[in-house]
Amino acid sequence: MVAKVHSMGLTGLDSFPVEVEADVAGTKYRFDMVGLPDAAVNEAKERVEAAVKNSGFAFPYGHITVNLAPADVRKAGSVYDMPIFIAMLIVSRQLKTDLSKSAFIGEISLSGEVRRVDGVLPMVIEARNSGMERVFVPAENAKEASVVDRIRVYPVKTMRQLVSFLRGTDTDDPLLPAEPFDFTAAETRRYPLDFADVKGQHNAKRALEVAAAGGHNILMSGPPGSGKSMLAKRLPSILPDLSFEEALQTTKIYSIAGALDAQKGLITQRPFRSPHHTVSPAGLSGGGAVPKPGEISLAHNGVLFLDELPEFPRSSLETMRQPIEDGKITISRASGSLTYPCQVMLVAAMNPCPCGYLGHPTKPCTCAPAAAQRYLARVSGPLLDRIDIQIEVPPVDFEALTARGGQEETSEAIRARVNAARAIQQKRFAGTATTCNAKMTEQQLETYCVLSESCKKLLQNVFDRLGLSARAYNKILKLARTIADLDGAENIAEAHITEAIRYRNLDRRIFSGK
Ligand SMILES: Nc1ncnc2c1ncn2[C@@H]1O[C@H](COP(=O)(O)OP(=O)(O)OP(=O)(O)O)[C@@H](O)[C@H]1O
Ligand SMILES: [Mg+2]
Repeated sequence: MVAKVHSMGLTGLDSFPVEVEADVAGTKYRFDMVGLPDAAVNEAKERVEAAVKNSGFAFPYGHITVNLAPADVRKAGSVYDMPIFIAMLIVSRQLKTDLSKSAFIGEISLSGEVRRVDGVLPMVIEARNSGMERVFVPAENAKEASVVDRIRVYPVKTMRQLVSFLRGTDTDDPLLPAEPFDFTAAETRRYPLDFADVKGQHNAKRALEVAAAGGHNILMSGPPGSGKSMLAKRLPSILPDLSFEEALQTTKIYSIAGALDAQKGLITQRPFRSPHHTVSPAGLSGGGAVPKPGEISLAHNGVLFLDELPEFPRSSLETMRQPIEDGKITISRASGSLTYPCQVMLVAAMNPCPCGYLGHPTKPCTCAPAAAQRYLARVSGPLLDRIDIQIEVPPVDFEALTARGGQEETSEAIRARVNAARAIQQKRFAGTATTCNAKMTEQQLETYCVLSESCKKLLQNVFDRLGLSARAYNKILKLARTIADLDGAENIAEAHITEAIRYRNLDRRIFSGK
């Protein structure tokens, strides 16, 4: 008697169908598991045997062989407990239901309770794509699974409950399909923080608007308490709404990282991740024996906030440079390499010097003369080169902070302008790999950032006067393009250039020591 039960496997973000085959022969007890199982899969033997008995069923006796097909792909984790359990009941003729269109995913405890596993969302998507009509998942994973349409999702609490359902017998706790997830429900999509909470700081807000509109990375420098973190946290609220496809991509990453909230099926808001500077390189970029996504991937389609940028180890920052540019990160292991997406907007914050008060209007800086320079030197280099906007955030003045009334602009109003500017860019870059102004190639820069004679002259003057580096030139052009788009202007005008230069003030004031 050979049993065949469908399940799913996972490599990185991708899932593939796995067939759990079981056979029992002879009379001498033995249990073999083949098909490249890892240690956790191998331990399923013990868990399943105990769970079968403790759920009130008989465990088959004889030489049991379980094969996980395809046999040449590595299988990891504990998701095969549930299909192996079902296969044991089939080979011992305790279950006779047709399961050709059913898939099983889940870990089980010794007593037969079903436990949550990571990566259910990508597995259920693949189950549907490979023709399954129903999928049985741990109850705790049901929310994420129910995001997938055109497949019935059953949230299983115990194996007894599942077997009763498959046999069609009555119980007091019948297994019912999960409610499909409603992505369009507006309240699930609203971002909880709003720019209306930030008093004053119009300069910084405008810079964040420009950053959001053109997809530019941004660095904010300012004394403690000036509101850098507060501003950064609100950036996702002015980015365009997540599309269903983007939400699915981001949720998949959380699903395999085991970072998904069981109450929330789909991540419907852009993520905001702010790893501490003591984060390990693997925590930041991803890693582990079975490589899991790191912070940079958990921020996919959202914001990666690096607070106190100079405190991050330089090596960590340098390994992030390429992924931030490419929107994907590859983690190499002896067992092979995996690639995770990481389309993020990078937001960084720092104090201007170790004590934090350099340039503060009232508080004196207590650092040694060269300390500020040394502090800043830590962040100069490759990563900084990827940050188009670098602004100073001064402490907000008392009057702005104490002003009454709700006159601050809401995130919704800002987002409307951002969306309009993004629509222009979508049209501009249609059919190319470029997604926004920040990602323009040299050639696109030449095509779309043509300057009038007067603009050229203005830029020339500024360069001579401030001694800007040549690499700042392209950044100013890209920023000017975004500012012109926010303005709905076809051509870059002098005002756009002037504003763009303002967003490079760290270039000249701090980083060049002027
Ligand atoms: N413009 C503002 N409007 C309203 N509240 C503000 C403003 N600026 C600062 N605050 C208040 O000050 C608190 C501290 O701000 P925040 O933590 O963002 O400062 P920071 O610049 O990140 O400081 P640090 O350099 O110490 O990290 C905020 O939580 C907020 O309550
Ligand atoms: Mg802060």
